[in-house]
Amino acid sequence: MGLLDGKVAIVTGSGGGIGRCHALALAKEGAKVVVNDVGGDRSGTGAAKSMADKVVDEIEALGGQAVANYDSVSSMEGGKNIVKTAVDKFGRLDILVNNAGILRDKTLLKMEENMWDAVIAVHLKGTFACTQPAAAFMKDQGQGGRIINTSSTSGLLGNFGQSNYGAAKAGIAGFTRVCALELAKSGITVNALVPVAKTRMTEDLPFFANLTEGELDPAHISPVLVFLASDLAKDVTGKFFLIRGPHISMLEVKNNEGLKKDGMWTPQEIARDIDKIMGW
Ligand code: NAI
Repeated sequence: MGLLDGKVAIVTGSGGGIGRCHALALAKEGAKVVVNDVGGDRSGTGAAKSMADKVVDEIEALGGQAVANYDSVSSMEGGKNIVKTAVDKFGRLDILVNNAGILRDKTLLKMEENMWDAVIAVHLKGTFACTQPAAAFMKDQGQGGRIINTSSTSGLLGNFGQSNYGAAKAGIAGFTRVCALELAKSGITVNALVPVAKTRMTEDLPFFANLTEGELDPAHISPVLVFLASDLAKDVTGKFFLIRGPHISMLEVKNNEGLKKDGMWTPQEIARDIDKIMGW
């Protein structure tokens, strides 16, 4: 008996890295998996079917069921076709994992419009383009559902040189919170992973390059994904799970107590009381 027997899952960008680990972990728990990947390089250039095909072969070699899809998440048509692949092949859809991603890093003053647009298109629009048709199908199916997005500390906490990526990942966080509210009445939970893992996306960053073999392996991210995808997490929604190796913790936006006065503040009064206003 697997935790996900009879369930059908889509994992975008699962031809490598964290997504591949997700697809394998879902299949090991009995889910039938759509392995979506355009198969380009880290910057989103190029395309190849081999990345998705290889992961389908891996799942089948383990006795699981999977189908490849090569659409880009970054168009509405692509998102619809990814959902259609799940429904045509396996007849239902229970789990959507929005994981596909690219990087085009530059500091703000060197950021070019195409770098901004490409990163926003894959991460932020891609998450919307897959979520809308998936949520519509899950709602009609009438048996709830699970949507798990992928955010980043780059967006939630900030990271030098990633204004495009950070904006997309913070946008995904806002999208996650709103969708969690809107889809609750249909029994669909919406959460986000905030991973830290050594993959092709991070391997040449100094911090990751200095890790020992196997440290921050992307496989550490997937148990949280499987938990969120399963009935064990039916009451968990709108949450952000930060996963760094075997350490799992939560991130959230907080509001302090602040300070209130009768009537309108002057800028000088704000300056006088700034420590109390900003204090936690
Ligand atoms: P990765 O580069 O190995 O995986 C991303 C996958 O998405 C690739 O297989 C790529 O071909 C695919 N992809 C790219 N554009 C696509 C598109 N338009 N349509 C379909 N597939 C597409 O990198 P990694 O690290 O596995 O990243 C997975 C997710 O985790 C990404 O959303 C990334 O931003 C996020 N993330 C990763 C962190 C890390 O430490 N590795 C940190 C924070 C977030």
